[in-house]
Amino acid sequence: MMTEPNHKRGLWKTRMGFILAASGSAVGLGNVWKFPYITGQNGGGAFVLVYLICIAVVGLPIMLAEFTVGRKTNLNPVGAFQQLKPGTLWVGIGFMGVLAGFLILSFYGVVGGWTLAYVVKSLTLSMEQFTSPTAAGALFDSFIANTGQVILYHALFMGLTMAIVIKGVHGGIEKACDILMPTLVVMLVILMIRALTLDGAMEGVKFYLYPDFSKLNGQVVLLAMGQAFFSLSLGMGAMITYGSYLPGKENLTSATLYVVLFDTLIALLMGMVIFPAVFAMGLEPTGGPGLVFSVLPAVFSGMPFGWIVSIIFFGLLAIAALTSAISLLEVVVAYFIDQKKWGRKKAVLVMGGVIFALGIPSGLSEGLLKDFKLFGMTFFENIDNIASNYLLPIGGMLTAVFVGWVWGTKPAHQEIERHETPFHWAAYWEFVIRYVAPVAVAMVFLTQFFATG
Ligand code: PHE
Repeated sequence: MMTEPNHKRGLWKTRMGFILAASGSAVGLGNVWKFPYITGQNGGGAFVLVYLICIAVVGLPIMLAEFTVGRKTNLNPVGAFQQLKPGTLWVGIGFMGVLAGFLILSFYGVVGGWTLAYVVKSLTLSMEQFTSPTAAGALFDSFIANTGQVILYHALFMGLTMAIVIKGVHGGIEKACDILMPTLVVMLVILMIRALTLDGAMEGVKFYLYPDFSKLNGQVVLLAMGQAFFSLSLGMGAMITYGSYLPGKENLTSATLYVVLFDTLIALLMGMVIFPAVFAMGLEPTGGPGLVFSVLPAVFSGMPFGWIVSIIFFGLLAIAALTSAISLLEVVVAYFIDQKKWGRKKAVLVMGGVIFALGIPSGLSEGLLKDFKLFGMTFFENIDNIASNYLLPIGGMLTAVFVGWVWGTKPAHQEIERHETPFHWAAYWEFVIRYVAPVAVAMVFLTQFFATG
């Protein structure tokens, strides 16, 4: 094995370790929970097609841009932009990213806690509780209204996230993802086979894969693009941070392709689990955010070994959420380590604690604080809205503009080809990062701006 330089910040040990960790960041509640319900609400196949196009023209180029900035500087997002254009306002992208990581993790930890709670519920409750979607929905509603339980599981989820991040990039994150990500794929394939062999599953496959273009409109296109963004963990420097732990030899272009393909594969597999199952049960695909928590338990109860399937499924969701939460916390922690010279342990304990505290009102938003609304939204919805609908799209668009026009595609190209790794799709990348991606993301942002106010 090659010996790494004694680098204080730590580097990924293996090429596969980096790819798995970056995939772990990308694959999360966004793929497993959000992608199926948005697809269900927006007409199925046609939405999926637009989503795939968005991945290719927005997600792919911006991910490569983030990896490149990260490896070039070996720094957190704030330090990275500062180093490439010192004394300019571009460092603001980095600050926005740290803030976005902070805000997203506060509510992501809450939903991560729900998934842990459902693992425990699957283990302990008899499946009779879930015989109908209505009964399962009522169970979900009573759970999220229970302050003590919600906070307990939220704390447990954040505790796990912090424990892994304390161990640092290869001690904790890399080792965890090495085991977790392949397990996830195996579990999904088992579930997909189970779902596809149910009576009536083919109706679901048709809904999911056959594009009905009459369902397309501007709003659907923009939602698909927003989903591509969130799902790939772009726009807040998560991939800058993970790229910053790369040794110079890594082939960035093929790593980008692997991560994008892997994230997309998981989302597509997830759809292949959910839609056949939903249609086989005679349920509606348009159930919304409650689809996973309210409908799937009822689906499982109708299956042989449903109890075990339920444990596997919610176990999967918890694993996927955890490997994304790790990257959200790592962005915040890397900033305090690099820029403020904090120790890793202190950074994790202090910032993890503050993020947990900020998450508490989000956790209570369906219960005690249900009626506490600002701008017509609960605390949870406000934080999600600010971070996901404003900070991520603006951050991604500015990153594309920065790399395409300010730092420049030429130095970026040189960094990508360091150590003679060939860049086969350079012409495509340079065109999309300069022209297509910034305009496309600006459209997402503007639509959200007009839609919300
Ligand atoms: N991509 C993650 C998911 O799909 C969420 C995430 C967004 C993680 C931004 C890191 C940064 O759940």
